[in-house]
Amino acid sequence: MRIVLVGPPGAGKGTQAAFLAKNLSIPHISTGDLFRANISQGTDLGKQAKAYMDAGNLVPDEVTIGMAKDRMAQPDAENGFLLDGFPRNVSQAEALDVALKADDVKLDAVLDLEVPEDEVVKRIAGRRICRKDSSHVFHVTYSKPKQEGVCDVCGGELYQREDDSEDTVRKRLEVYHTQTEPIIDYYRTQGLVVTISALGKVDEVTERAMDALKGDK
Ligand code: AP5
Ligand code: ZN
Repeated sequence: MRIVLVGPPGAGKGTQAAFLAKNLSIPHISTGDLFRANISQGTDLGKQAKAYMDAGNLVPDEVTIGMAKDRMAQPDAENGFLLDGFPRNVSQAEALDVALKADDVKLDAVLDLEVPEDEVVKRIAGRRICRKDSSHVFHVTYSKPKQEGVCDVCGGELYQREDDSEDTVRKRLEVYHTQTEPIIDYYRTQGLVVTISALGKVDEVTERAMDALKGDK
């Protein structure tokens, strides 16, 4: 399956993507995680992305689209993938369509996670992520690590993302409404959007998402 996951910052895209990718045996491709890995490795791409991310803005399309396409061209993504955080504006969605068409494949669904803004703020304020692998995500109340400050998966140190400060979160939400939400209408015209509530326990949301995806295709 080829799936796009969309939803505001803190909706639980990364959390759900980890379970959905496992259930569906497809790779989880997060452009946010790819950028964070580049930043921690000190690559040129990471240096280009950092200032935009710290300010809560989108990284320019010239950088992002090439990076996403390179990742999608890896052998593990040949038969499907779960995109998390890409596309994030209409021009990225158009670029993705062109790339998929060139490979003669199509998206199966766009899973839209709906969460009220006050919940998003609570989720982001308590989020802690792993220094070694930013796809290892915890929450100080909702998803506590066994040992405070230590990743259950790999033992890495847990920290708060730099772009999770209150001001930057407000900016990221604004960017989501103005630039990312329009892709939902873009995909609605293609009949691909499945909307679910992302409220409730993590496993309840995963079950809802799996049911919605099965119902869709
Ligand atoms: P990115 O990393 O994609 O961040 P985001 O979209 O803002 O999403 P988040 O990672 O904040 O939230 P999430 O929905 O994954 O929630 P999570 O599962 O962690 O992007 C960061 C930046 O990179 C962007 O601002 C931009 O600069 C740049 N970028 C990335 N892609 C780009 C692109 N395509 N184009 C341009 N720029 C790009 O969950 C949040 C918390 O809630 C966690 O603590 C979790 O434990 C908890 N939680 C999850 N589910 C539940 C639940 N059901 N109940 C209770 N708690 C829960
Ligand atoms: Zn870890």
